[in-house]
Amino acid sequence: MDDDKIRQSFMPAGQTENFLKHLRQFPTSSYFRRMAPRRVPRFAFEYCDTGAGDDVGIAHNWASLDGVKIVPRYGVTAVSPPVDVELFGTRYAAPIGIAPMGGPSMVWPGADLILAKAAQAARVPYTLGVVGGATIEQVAAVAPDVFWLQMYRFARNDHKIGFDLVRRAAAAGVKVLTLTVDTPVRTIRSREAYAGLGWEFKPDLRMFAEMLMRPRWLMALLRNGYPRFASMQEYAGGLTATNDIIRFARSEMGGAFLWDEIARFRDAWKGPMTVKGIMHPEDAEKALSLGIDGIWVSNHGGRQIEALAPTIDVLPAIAEVVGTRATILFDSGVRSGQDVMRALALGAQAAFAGKAFLWSLAALGEEGPAQLIDLFMNDLRGSLGQIGAQSPAEARAAKVVHPTRIAF
Ligand SMILES: Cc1cc2nc3c(=O)[nH]c(=O)nc-3n(C[C@H](O)[C@H](O)[C@H](O)COP(=O)(O)O)c2cc1C
Repeated sequence: MDDDKIRQSFMPAGQTENFLKHLRQFPTSSYFRRMAPRRVPRFAFEYCDTGAGDDVGIAHNWASLDGVKIVPRYGVTAVSPPVDVELFGTRYAAPIGIAPMGGPSMVWPGADLILAKAAQAARVPYTLGVVGGATIEQVAAVAPDVFWLQMYRFARNDHKIGFDLVRRAAAAGVKVLTLTVDTPVRTIRSREAYAGLGWEFKPDLRMFAEMLMRPRWLMALLRNGYPRFASMQEYAGGLTATNDIIRFARSEMGGAFLWDEIARFRDAWKGPMTVKGIMHPEDAEKALSLGIDGIWVSNHGGRQIEALAPTIDVLPAIAEVVGTRATILFDSGVRSGQDVMRALALGAQAAFAGKAFLWSLAALGEEGPAQLIDLFMNDLRGSLGQIGAQSPAEARAAKVVHPTRIAF
């Protein structure tokens, strides 16, 4: 699709009836979040919404983003600008993407493919989590133009599974491969644990009762089955039960990629590759030295430990070091198009959201993610127009007030 068609394929903001209908109920992502616990079992909401410990890391991400203020310029743009961007040689309708998630199907059964289809329809990047609920091949079939894949470390047998996943990704036409480095340890997410979720999916009586009280969610579960690590099934030696596959995958998976391992995957994968979870300019520099194409600034959305710095506070220093040598991606705390604009203004080329997409699924089921993408795009377009930027890239020229920026 050429640029004009991509622009045209988007209805002008707020013009579709469906969008307007849902806008009434969900004018921002926080309305999705408010509604979500009333639509899905409690454990499903807690799974998607929890951070590490008492959620302080999430609060810090949000507070730092909220603290970024932009001084507008007028007289340059009469209307909202187009927001399409090129990332790694592919044109997308907006610099907004869906971050990889392991268990979106816990939040809404069948979620991985719902997210992938919404991203394909909107032409924004969709990142499948390698431990997600759909296989690489299933996602390739529904989202061929926007398909990114995230990988964890499966180090056994000299990374046999990892390298086979790379082979499958290439065969499936994955556009960008992402290696996550920010989960060297498994930490406790208190609300998840308190809601009864452990290593395996073993609903107790309370969880069954919660499911029965949410008939729409239950119907989706009956249609799609329990969430499982779908792409892992073919390595599991004939195991088919959900918990058997989860147990198998967990026995194979562990730790976070080391730099020498990243170098080997860099050799094996011929397409664009990003490293996700970078928080320090020197780690960005190290990734660049290995030929990585994209630096994905992330603190896992506050889900690892609470004491990590907010991503927006380290972004400017990383952007300064990276310059034009690689693409910078941003996540952790993004709840609106204005947050996307803040990240663009501080040096990112695109921003991704995780939890906000899960809130949209919980609150609005199958229609949620498409509605959220429209909301984000609408807000981004309006925000750029408001500050006098004529493209996403021009946000970088804005005068930004950023009190919590970290100097290295
Ligand atoms: C439920 C859930 C599961 C996640 N699973 C993964 C994963 O499997 N791999 C990964 O790299 N990041 C994972 N993440 C982190 C996201 O990719 C992303 O970094 C984070 O959600 C961004 O912060 P936000 O939720 O505030 O938007 C997960 C996040 C959530 C909320």
